[in-house]
Amino acid sequence: MPGRLFVRKSIAELIEQAEDREHGLRRVLGRFNLVSLGIGAIIGAGIFVLTGQAAAQYAGPAIVLSFVLSGIGCALAGLCYAEMASMIPVAGSAYTYAYTTLGEFFAWVIGWDLVLEYLFGASTVAVGWSGYVVSFLKDFGIVLPPELSQSPFVFDPKTHTWTLTGAIINLPAVFIIVLLTTLLVVGIRESATVNNVIVMVKIIVLLMFIGTGIFFLHPENWKPFIPPNEGSFGIYGWSGILRGAGVIFFAYIGFDAVSTAAQEARNPQKDIPIGILGSLGISTLLYVAVALVLTGIVSYQRLNVPDPIAVAVDAVGTPLFWIRPFIKVGAIAGLSSVILVMLLGQPRIFYSMARDGLLPRPFAAVHPRFRTPYVTTIVTGVVAATFAGLFPIGILGELVSIGTLLAFTIVCIGVMVLRYTRPDIPRPFRTPLVPLVPLLGAGISLLQMASLPRDTWLRLILWMAVGLMIYFAYGRRRSLARQALSMTDSPPA
Ligand code: ALA
Repeated sequence: MPGRLFVRKSIAELIEQAEDREHGLRRVLGRFNLVSLGIGAIIGAGIFVLTGQAAAQYAGPAIVLSFVLSGIGCALAGLCYAEMASMIPVAGSAYTYAYTTLGEFFAWVIGWDLVLEYLFGASTVAVGWSGYVVSFLKDFGIVLPPELSQSPFVFDPKTHTWTLTGAIINLPAVFIIVLLTTLLVVGIRESATVNNVIVMVKIIVLLMFIGTGIFFLHPENWKPFIPPNEGSFGIYGWSGILRGAGVIFFAYIGFDAVSTAAQEARNPQKDIPIGILGSLGISTLLYVAVALVLTGIVSYQRLNVPDPIAVAVDAVGTPLFWIRPFIKVGAIAGLSSVILVMLLGQPRIFYSMARDGLLPRPFAAVHPRFRTPYVTTIVTGVVAATFAGLFPIGILGELVSIGTLLAFTIVCIGVMVLRYTRPDIPRPFRTPLVPLVPLLGAGISLLQMASLPRDTWLRLILWMAVGLMIYFAYGRRRSLARQALSMTDSPPA
């Protein structure tokens, strides 16, 4: 029956399932931890690596406006996530929201899509982490052999060919994933505590940069604030601000990860929206301030480097020399917490999918002592470590943004659908100005998707095709919701 493809789960049923206090996940996360998880996932490679390149190539000092623009787009999606999370406070994030609004088929699509954001996100940032750690150790005279700290393959997008680099494996990238996976198996409380410490370090480092850099600004570097367009779309001018926004969207990815931990929050209905919007707000303020100081210290033309903040500090010279090692520590800390929260989000989505029968049942196991979804945590860690050990950063990273934007679109549409189909459900947090905010949120996300390269779209389509094959071969037959429906449909004996 085609209608069965769109079988939905009731919200009451979901909440009841989540309330297994004996064997379920442990509700220990408070407001502070949730905001910190959000910041943990957000501030990372985007600000420490991509900002400089986006300023140098596309927006100039107006990268500050790109940050504001992308931040507004994320805030619209964030407001929709907040309503969904307050209404459906269980693990699984957009996957679970789609199950109750658009039905099982879309839930599967979104669940499969989220792998691109979380699992591939973790691998991508782990490769970036490895680069920073190798350079940090080199400063202390410890040289890791390139054969053991680089990807064995590289992909040339111009010729569409893969070549061997001579390296065997990116061992530091594998190491950080294995380490954080172990922490995540041991406990959510322990993981949140480590995340809090790392988040403190990276915020302090960014504040140090802003607080000291502000005394070395050269306002002539901001003139012109929006460099004139050079003739083609995206190279400076207003179109450059737009393209810059598309590139640094990566820097905002992660606030939605807070919603995957809903089942471990003490008071999810109030605190998850605070976690999502609070972390987004704090990160946006920090990003805008860092971008202003960065482009005020050095000319944007000098920022086309993988470590723009370090370049700005070097440009000041002796007065800021002491801050250099802190910047590297901040970047390593930043990237570590992003990997941690991505590796935390993914297993909770797999866990929810397995609980619904769409993935093998053992995936829904919770560790008897640690009360963590340990099977999916280990599976995620092994797969993410394999990708991170073997593949280069570009190939992995390009899929992360498109996957996340698709999830944002579906969540925004879901908010509108539920407002009309289920106006009765209590919503402790309500997205303002519905349908304007969700429509704009979905529209901006779709626009950003449209601006991504054709190759990225092809990979997304391929990934989704594989997902659909798995769904029709496995999930559709095993779906518990569908089985329940068949039982109620069969005539009484
Ligand atoms: N927002 C995360 C980062 O910038 C993914 O690394």
